[in-house]
Amino acid sequence: MTLEEKVGKTLEELGIVDEAGVQVLSAEVRAAMGAERQALVTSGAATEADRQKLVKALRDRWLARKGGLLTLMDEHWLRSSPKALKPVVGREFNQLRHAAAWLETEELLKVLPVQRDARHSTNVTVAAPTLAPDLTLPGYRRSVGSVHPITRVQREIEDIFLDFGFSIETGPEVESVYYNFDALNIPESHPSRDDWDSLYIDADTVLRTHTSPVQMRAMEKHGAPLYIIAPGKCYRRDNPDATHSPMFHQIEGLAVDTDITFADLKGTLDFFAKKFFASEKVRTRFNPSFFPFTEPSGEVSVSCPFCDGSGCRRCKESGWIELLGCGMVHPQVLRFGGIDPDRYSGWAFGLGIDRFAMVKYDITDIQLFFQGDLRFLEQF
Ligand code: FA5
Repeated sequence: MTLEEKVGKTLEELGIVDEAGVQVLSAEVRAAMGAERQALVTSGAATEADRQKLVKALRDRWLARKGGLLTLMDEHWLRSSPKALKPVVGREFNQLRHAAAWLETEELLKVLPVQRDARHSTNVTVAAPTLAPDLTLPGYRRSVGSVHPITRVQREIEDIFLDFGFSIETGPEVESVYYNFDALNIPESHPSRDDWDSLYIDADTVLRTHTSPVQMRAMEKHGAPLYIIAPGKCYRRDNPDATHSPMFHQIEGLAVDTDITFADLKGTLDFFAKKFFASEKVRTRFNPSFFPFTEPSGEVSVSCPFCDGSGCRRCKESGWIELLGCGMVHPQVLRFGGIDPDRYSGWAFGLGIDRFAMVKYDITDIQLFFQGDLRFLEQF
């Protein structure tokens, strides 16, 4: 019995009464689809008109709303299948539908390029393949992905710090309130502990709001001296807008050793900024700030690498671009991490990778990173 005849009958009429029978039938349909794809590629199309005709014929044969093979399978096999078999038939039918994605006109056109010298057929009914594959025909192009801009920027930053001799640490995104807040000297009264900022799983567990908890985990794990960076995702109850996303990426930096001073922090970040923006002219500026886990704390800006600090659209005419928060690790935090603050000192910073990527690639809306639009992503 041909496939055309089979799709005109119900499963009962075909004598299919169990799961094994359904699977054999479904494998048969998939094999037929594969054979027709092979036949299409092998036959080729000599002209654009010929190509359109072949593509339409094959698409209609399988997908037409009236009389298409899949439509008939839906009507005769799926809808009228016995109740006990319905879940199995439904699952197999769904898989067939997925497998049939290449039969959509757009996809078919990709499979069948116009080949002036190809053997072609104007016969629009597509027969099972009788020809061996023609190995002289050009292959069809598979699209290759590229590295996401945020991953790219993350790797660039990681490479710079790996060259400095730092190593990479990771920590959980679902974090305990202890590591995310308490151990970092963030008291209950601190605004970032309010519901507004944080996404709680339960009273003791939160989606980490920053990568700083990895500081504590690394101190507990390795002790001092310690030179690490910790990249990863963070979550906050921030409404999405051009510069905020409820999920974003940070990189934490932490150095703990004897005799570490603010000068080490300044020197390292200044050198890092020059490397990242690939310009010796870039200058860094440290402004006082506040973080409960560093004392003193600072915000670092760089002179705009695009206008050399004279003011442009990218730095909002200010000549400076805000980069990150940083400071000397609070003695209490070292103590929580099991490190003696009388013997050791340290610095730490936390930067937003997404914002770095926005500056680097002149992107004005952070949301573009997460929308999966290929027109945007293919530029990187
Ligand atoms: C912190 O998260 C501190 N943990 C940084 C730090 C680490 C300070 C170590 C001192 C020592 P802040 O809340 O400013 O700081 O966030 C750091 C960066 O994360 C910001 O500069 C910004 O680039 C980025 N960021 C914060 N919230 C969002 C958001 N909703 N969307 C995108 N990026 C964000």
